[in-house]
Amino acid sequence: MPKAELHIHIEGSLEPELIFAMAARNGVAIAYSSVEELRQAYAFSNLQSFLDIYYAGASVLLHEQDFHDMAWAYLERAAADNVVHAEIFFDPQTHTARGVDMGVVINGLHRACVEAKARLGVDASLILCFLRHLSEDDALETLQQALPYRDKFIGVGLDSSEVGHPPEKFARVFEKCRGLGLHLVAHAGEEGPPAYVWTALDVLKVERIDHGVQSTKDPALMKRLAQDRIALTVCPLSNLKLCVFPQLADHNIRELLDAGLAATINSDDPAYFGGYMNENFTQTFAATGLTAAHAYQLAKNSFDASFTDAATKRRYTDMLDAVFTAFE
Ligand code: ADE
Ligand code: ZN
Repeated sequence: MPKAELHIHIEGSLEPELIFAMAARNGVAIAYSSVEELRQAYAFSNLQSFLDIYYAGASVLLHEQDFHDMAWAYLERAAADNVVHAEIFFDPQTHTARGVDMGVVINGLHRACVEAKARLGVDASLILCFLRHLSEDDALETLQQALPYRDKFIGVGLDSSEVGHPPEKFARVFEKCRGLGLHLVAHAGEEGPPAYVWTALDVLKVERIDHGVQSTKDPALMKRLAQDRIALTVCPLSNLKLCVFPQLADHNIRELLDAGLAATINSDDPAYFGGYMNENFTQTFAATGLTAAHAYQLAKNSFDASFTDAATKRRYTDMLDAVFTAFE
């Protein structure tokens, strides 16, 4: 079925083969001797154990062409899974901290997005994420560096190490972004408590919550998310690989949907977590017994929660309805 992907970190789509190819062409040393050895290191115990290797992998990205090639590889893969709309996170501070210019990052990614529309029929746009383990001043400086490219990204997000870095740490920079008309999202309730989801909503005033699976621990929060139709961009294989749930069968996606929340399914960092969009859907459905009605709702939610215009959402929903009608 056609669907939107709303939670994909483009640096998390960098496959080991591409890491090795870029390391070779850019003369960057990496701590692993082969693709297989690198893949074997992808055994994580929590979010931080993943982030350490994820930031190391991103160190091979130096030139505009590298950022383009990474995004293009993801977009081709997404199109193969019938993703018709993608809102793509990128982490500029991971690159600017190594001396890579903001323009190199954004121009390379943006060129791939433009090509995706023409060559793959995929609508793709960019969301700039601030790294929450760094200071708010660093985020403000990053925003300043990105403003010359304001027309090339549609919003901002908040990612990296969650626990100990609550959303309210970034109140001023999100306020500034809101004034600039940028869309706002934040990771909250991945490993962190429901309190972080509350402050993402009430202090940062985000429009969607990335992950948010810890929300089921707080009935009042569940009610708020349902009433305000705040979408959660849930990433089941990520939650499994980062040990948020011991098994996929234990995932609370069904509880979220059945409580009337606008949950969606997404891939997060597919190169690291063992699956792109369709793999996230098929493995989650196999493990949790979700139904065809849930599948429709998940895809419909992904379009409704996207940052596109009403006419495009209607066109996407018509495509989805046509698929389900054909199957009935
Ligand atoms: N950056 C990339 N993937 C992430 C995740 N799952 N949580 C927080 N930050 C991330
Ligand atoms: Zn994420």
